Amino acid sequence: MISWPFPRAENLPTYGFVITDAVKARVRATGADIIDLGLGNPDRPTPGPIVERLLETAVIGKNHRYHPGRGLLPLREAAAAWYTKRYGVRFDVEQELVITMGAKEGMSNLCLAILDRGDLALAPDPCYPIHAGAPRIAGADVALYRAALDIAPADAVAESIARAEKSGRRVKLVIANYPQNPTGQVISREQMGALVRVVQRSGAMLLHDLAYADFDFRARNAPSIFDCGVPADEVKAFGVETFSMSKSYNMPGWRIAFMAGNARLVGALAHLKTYLDYGTFAPLQYAAAWALEHGDGFAEELRELYMRRAHALVGGLRHAGWEGVTEPSGTMFVWAPIPRALSQKGSLDATTRLIEQAHVAVAPGVGFGPGGDGHVRFALIEDPPRIAEACERIGRLFSVPRRAAGA
Ligand SMILES: Cc1ncc(COP(=O)(O)O)c(C=O)c1O
Repeated sequence: MISWPFPRAENLPTYGFVITDAVKARVRATGADIIDLGLGNPDRPTPGPIVERLLETAVIGKNHRYHPGRGLLPLREAAAAWYTKRYGVRFDVEQELVITMGAKEGMSNLCLAILDRGDLALAPDPCYPIHAGAPRIAGADVALYRAALDIAPADAVAESIARAEKSGRRVKLVIANYPQNPTGQVISREQMGALVRVVQRSGAMLLHDLAYADFDFRARNAPSIFDCGVPADEVKAFGVETFSMSKSYNMPGWRIAFMAGNARLVGALAHLKTYLDYGTFAPLQYAAAWALEHGDGFAEELRELYMRRAHALVGGLRHAGWEGVTEPSGTMFVWAPIPRALSQKGSLDATTRLIEQAHVAVAPGVGFGPGGDGHVRFALIEDPPRIAEACERIGRLFSVPRRAAGA
């Protein structure tokens, strides 16, 4: 029996997406077919040509070796070219770019590299769990700023910085993510510029997560911090941005992403990684480079797929009697306010009821932060027929009076 405390692990709340695993397992054990819209885990396979590139390079023996460093040069060059083509910004592939084993790994290890006890980081509320988790794992304090449609991102961050300063704290790192998970919020280039200026004026550093770069339903490419009206060289003085291959090219299981921007921040992450890993499997990096160079069409198809699914889900939910739900302007999620008919006890109760009584799994909003507790998140990872089936089940749940349903 070990009696030592493990504060780093034990102080972390349960990960947002596993909170209801036990409920799902119990309901599945009864033989129920759960429609699982919980985790944002893309359902379609990686496009064939990307997999072919992996297979071609996997049979070459030298690709099986360790590949220390910041990632293979062809992939760093492809990442730099991706930025130049989309956002007109150039990066030095030796100093300003590093390949990571997924955006989560990059953001987590960046925080470990640059934050310490006594530091303060800002994260959105609600947020993708690692945005608040990474600084906490690194030992830093985290203050939250409101991510919601009724407040401009720059104002929310400015308010939170002002609050911290009033209490005698300086913010060291601001973490932002647009298009935003879980709210589906998309911001304009001007709004991104205002946000970047607020962080710049405060003297903090900025980490922006651009995982949904291709899933802005209004613009072909969501704004980058390096193309927001503030000169890229100024942003490079304090900011980095990460882009993941997981969503745009359906490569979530491959674990590959990159981070670009400030040379000192990128260098600190790369330095830490010399201790932690020897780079991701080389064939994977070659295939990722191919995807960045040739994969815009795949990303475009996926954007349309998620728009169609969002439309189908929101239409179906409304028809089922779910009030107040609107179509997202980006990402692959629908962030739905919990109707009174479903629960008045918050997102865990609502999620449990949906799983137990409708056999539809969603992610409880509280898993994304305290500000998420009035919502649940639907991931758009099923096609319209299954989405329609989920909505019908939810409709039946709404039409059964609560007491009769035994709730
Ligand atoms: C905002 C955001 N960032 C990062 C990730 C994960 O990226 P990766 O698979 O590269 O770790 C996700 C996955 O859902 C996400 O929603």
